[in-house]
Amino acid sequence: MTPELQEKLTVWRRHLHAHPELSLQEQETSAFVQEKLREIGIPFEAGIGGHGIVATLTRGQTQGRVGLRADMDALPITEATGLPYASKNPGVMHACGHDGHTASLLGAAALLAADPGWSGTVDFIFQPAEEGFGGSRAMVAAGLFERFPMDRIFGFHNWPGLAAGTIAVHDGVAMASGGRITITIDGHAGHAGMPHLTRDPVMAAGHLIVALQSIVSRSVDPLDTAVLSLCTIEGGTAPNQIAGKVVIRGTMRYHRDAVKDTILERIEQTCAGIATSFGVKVTFGIVMGVGVVINTPEEAGLARLAAEKMRAEVRLDLAPSMAGEDFAHYLQQRPGAFVWIGNGDLRAGAELHGPAYDFNDAILPVAAGWMAEVAKAALASNQGAGP
Ligand code: NI
Repeated sequence: MTPELQEKLTVWRRHLHAHPELSLQEQETSAFVQEKLREIGIPFEAGIGGHGIVATLTRGQTQGRVGLRADMDALPITEATGLPYASKNPGVMHACGHDGHTASLLGAAALLAADPGWSGTVDFIFQPAEEGFGGSRAMVAAGLFERFPMDRIFGFHNWPGLAAGTIAVHDGVAMASGGRITITIDGHAGHAGMPHLTRDPVMAAGHLIVALQSIVSRSVDPLDTAVLSLCTIEGGTAPNQIAGKVVIRGTMRYHRDAVKDTILERIEQTCAGIATSFGVKVTFGIVMGVGVVINTPEEAGLARLAAEKMRAEVRLDLAPSMAGEDFAHYLQQRPGAFVWIGNGDLRAGAELHGPAYDFNDAILPVAAGWMAEVAKAALASNQGAGP
């Protein structure tokens, strides 16, 4: 990458950082990306699945088509970096580095637009609403894969705690899926001195919380990975009244669908058992995430090849994360790979979603370069194959 392009990407990244927008509200960010795509000279379609954009570059006669994706949204977090380009929107912050992902994808577009050494079609996907607001699902529902019939898709996430510019590739599972759990216990309120006339949901909740902790330790295969965390509990208003209702909220995470099924089945059974034991009504609801991020073997190989081409340090030995990524939804439709690119040392408060986090501009060349290289590698491996 030329120093001029690196300088430009840094300016763009810092502009995005200073002007973060929440999920589903990425209007200015989308307008900024469109302006830069015009500047680079790549045609695009906007308004796909909300504020999503797909820019498309075709070169030569080859049939192959590959997608590269970045996310654009920020988080409801108050920035505490003290940087000169810190957020100008109070309470909103690019605390996950999506500003850097967006700048990197613009960089990949600029690199490929200036590079005669490839043939095929590349779709640059700028996705809104990654932070739990269904952005990937919305773009797919808006016909992403019909309107832009790519045969493979790639993306990356910056990774604090991994050396700057190191690229980690997982052969298979890279990131978790999960679900948000709500359990409601309806009892019968009454005088604390006359418990025999009540049905106590607080006591039932105590037993239920303990019993649910046996699911991961006793029902899930110890060689599998699972988390079940109950994080909030609400119930009761007076110290001398037995409450009428308790609500418990939490989250579950897993790397394999079979584990998800086990956890859900055991939660249902445990809730039913507690309901019977204590004479209360227990209802259980869950909002599931989009799925596990599972890289396909051939595309994980292409991701590694592109990383080696960039002369980046490559790590193949990192354990998958229990964090989620809505890139999973694309991988349910097309083969692909999602890699981590090291953001440098981990400092307290500067982890992903931390108030002191900042995307490391020094990794813009490797991130943009890797995306351009993985597209070229995919198209080259594809020669002659139709979509
Ligand atoms: Ni993120």
